Amino acid sequence: RGAGPLAGRHLLVTSGPTHEPIDPVRYIANRSSGKQGHAIAAAAAEAGARVTLVSGPVSLPDPPGVTVVRVETARAMLATVEAALPADIAVFAAAVADWRPANATDEKIKKGPDGPPGIALVENPDILATVSQKTVNRPPLVVGFAAETHRVVEHARAKIARKGCDLIVANDVSAGSGVMGGDRNTVLLIGRDGAVETWPTLDKDEVARRLVARLTVLAGT
Ligand code: C5P
Repeated sequence: RGAGPLAGRHLLVTSGPTHEPIDPVRYIANRSSGKQGHAIAAAAAEAGARVTLVSGPVSLPDPPGVTVVRVETARAMLATVEAALPADIAVFAAAVADWRPANATDEKIKKGPDGPPGIALVENPDILATVSQKTVNRPPLVVGFAAETHRVVEHARAKIARKGCDLIVANDVSAGSGVMGGDRNTVLLIGRDGAVETWPTLDKDEVARRLVARLTVLAGT
C-alpha cells in the first residue's frame, strides 16, 4: 500500500443493519442491505486508505483490502467504532436500529394462552451523534446518512445540526424509489452551511467512488 489519493489516511465506515435480540431466536432489524456502506469501504481502499468497516449482519462479501469487524447490535457497533478511532474520516452508513428490546430473554419466549408478549423498547446509542460530539479523537470529517421518505433536504439540514456531523448524504427511500436493497441510489449532499448538491441516479458503486473523491478533497492534504 502507499499509493492513491487517500494513502496514509484511516477511513472508518459503518454499514448494514443492526440486529437487536428479543430472545435467542428473534430480533428487531431493518431493511438495510449494506450495499452502499460496503461500496464506500471498497472505494476508499481503492483510493489507498486504510479502511476499517464495522458491519452489521449482511450477506455481502468482505470488500478486498478492508479490515472488517462484524457486529450484531448497536451497542457492539458503537464499542467497535470507538475502539477503531482515531480516524481521519468516518462515514456512518449503517442503518442502526433506533430501539432495542429492554429485556432480551435467555430463553425462547413460548406461545401461550396469555396472547402475544409485550416488548418494551429502550433507545439505542446514536453512533453518529456520539462520535460527532466527541471532544477527544473526533475524526476531522464525519459523514452521516439520512434515509428519508419525504422532505429530504429539510430533515437532512436538521440532522446535521442535531447530530453535529460535517456532511449528510441524503437519499429518498420512499416506496417505489427502489433504494432499499437495490443497486442504484439517488443522493443529495448537504453541507454544514446548508448547501445542497443533487447527484443523478447512479450505481451504488459510482456513488461510493464520487463520495470518496469528494471526501478526499474535503479532508485536504
Ligand atoms: O437519525 P437517523 O437514524 O435518521 O440518522 C441516520 C444517520 O445516523 C446515519 O448516518 C446512521 O448511520 C446514523 N445513526 C447512528 N446510530 C444510530 C442511529 C443512526 O450512527 N443509533
